[in-house]
Amino acid sequence: MFRRLDPIAGEIRLSFDGREIVARAGDSVAMALLAADETSLRETPVSGAPRSPYCMMGVCFDCLVEIDGIGNRQACLTLVAEGMQVRRQRGARDVL
Ligand code: FES
Repeated sequence: MFRRLDPIAGEIRLSFDGREIVARAGDSVAMALLAADETSLRETPVSGAPRSPYCMMGVCFDCLVEIDGIGNRQACLTLVAEGMQVRRQRGARDVL
């Protein structure tokens, strides 16, 4: 669905629910996942409906994911980092 206009330079590897994703330095997590055809990043707490990044600028909160064990992270506002562990957020985050 989404494709990059230029080749990846400065590869960064992260995982999304155990799948290795190759991103580019400077990508947001949402951009890297969309480019890897991962379009559903979270499920709503009430119905479990899938949600995809929408605004890409921190307004809609449809891109919430768990990053390195911390829930409710906005994938569109978080830059990728080597070895980052990203998981689809299912429902509300756990309260510690
Ligand atoms: S895509 Fe809307 S807040 Fe991240």
